[in-house]
Amino acid sequence: MSDLLKSANVYLIGMMGSGKSTVGQLLAQQLGYQFFDTDTVIEQYSQQSIATLFAEAGEAEFRTLETQVLAELAAYTRLVIATGGGIVLRRENWSYLRHGVIVWLDVPLDEIQQRLQADTTRPLLQATDLPNRLKELMAQRRSLYAQADVHVLCAAKATPEHIAHQVIQQIEHVIEPEATPPDQED
Ligand code: S3P
Repeated sequence: MSDLLKSANVYLIGMMGSGKSTVGQLLAQQLGYQFFDTDTVIEQYSQQSIATLFAEAGEAEFRTLETQVLAELAAYTRLVIATGGGIVLRRENWSYLRHGVIVWLDVPLDEIQQRLQADTTRPLLQATDLPNRLKELMAQRRSLYAQADVHVLCAAKATPEHIAHQVIQQIEHVIEPEATPPDQED
């Protein structure tokens, strides 16, 4: 499988709470790749939590850092990268994502809502009606997520192991091994 990928990075995209980090770590193990999470790199770099960054510097500054981190990571190979749910919003980010294989983890909104009910770390979901907010964000983003190379429909109760397995199978399906050229005869 990693042969088939030819060292290309795998980018996981999708809504907050869709399991990108958990599934990404499993995938990295299975592929013999390194794992990174753009939010974690941003937090390490800025020495601030995402919530504090949003509160003090604002979303626009966060998005700029997110693009910088993505650009840095895209310079390497053999990485599985879990991205923040909003990475798809900036056109510029796609020029980096497109260097690798982009996988959308598509989890039903009801399930995401349950997972994030008590979450306090995601600034875009605070002090708001969660079900409507998620619907609104999904309406803005669905067509962007749909531009992934691989669309994995994740059943609500599927385990991360099962989803990682689905991702690998679907990547194998979209990346065809190069056809062996026919013998050149005179
Ligand atoms: C965001 C998703 C978060 C984080 C930030 C903004 C978004 O990452 O980047 O809170 O715009 O959807 P996760 O998708 O890892 O939760």
